[in-house]
Amino acid sequence: MSDPRVTLPGLLAMKARREKITCLTAYDATFAQAVDAAEIDMLLVGDSLGMVIQGSATTLSVTIDDVVYHTRCVASAVNRSFVLADLPFMSCPTPAEAAENAARLMRAGAHAVKIEGAGPQIQITRFLSERHVPVCGHLGLLPQAVHKLGGYRVQGRDAASAQQLLTDAEALVAAGATLLVLECIPAELAAEVTARVPVPTIGIGAGPACDGQVLVLHDMLGLTRKQPGFSRNFLDGASSIQDALVRYRDAVRAGTFPAPPEGAGHP
Ligand code: KIV
Repeated sequence: MSDPRVTLPGLLAMKARREKITCLTAYDATFAQAVDAAEIDMLLVGDSLGMVIQGSATTLSVTIDDVVYHTRCVASAVNRSFVLADLPFMSCPTPAEAAENAARLMRAGAHAVKIEGAGPQIQITRFLSERHVPVCGHLGLLPQAVHKLGGYRVQGRDAASAQQLLTDAEALVAAGATLLVLECIPAELAAEVTARVPVPTIGIGAGPACDGQVLVLHDMLGLTRKQPGFSRNFLDGASSIQDALVRYRDAVRAGTFPAPPEGAGHP
């Protein structure tokens, strides 16, 4: 019999036991069923769907209607995994709008919502978590801020921005965030955040010390034309897509993914 459903307390217990958490993006029922069957702990309905599903250059085209639709598709196919859904660009300019949109995602089947950034998002995180919405913070490279950042670049490289990121991580957790995604930051900084916060950190291009790892499904299946340097093609040498998903799960659990060249940042 497969494991029972993955829950938020279960993910927190995994951090306490130092068991690595596995996460992949999914956008449709067929892949969600495959990822769930591979016993990947978390499934992220990411706004990366703008790039991999809609063919946009960024995530900015994604609307709350899009994420609600894809969350419903994914949730319909999941028996075990914890489902996290993104609040896309400009979907939470005020606490009230954030609450309305988070409720739509939860009603579509999400178990938690993810919000990019700190600053005003700290108040939004508090507002949602006080209203029973589990919130995942997202720090480091913020794809929704790509034009402000001037591209997809590693963040937190200098002392001041690293310190800011640590402060933001602690502030988000104090506001009620129960998960943190760390994207494209130096491995040492991700290790420090992971040691400081009591909630699981899920890294992407953030080195091996995070409590868990997430990749975009289409990247780890080698389907993306320009593979990020921190990703790995798990279909390479696998006998099937299902085998590739299991290889990813086992590599994260064993701590063999990411390996040093896959550590931090975009190519
Ligand atoms: O949208 C997404 O897929 C994400 C991951 C890159 C963490 O936010």
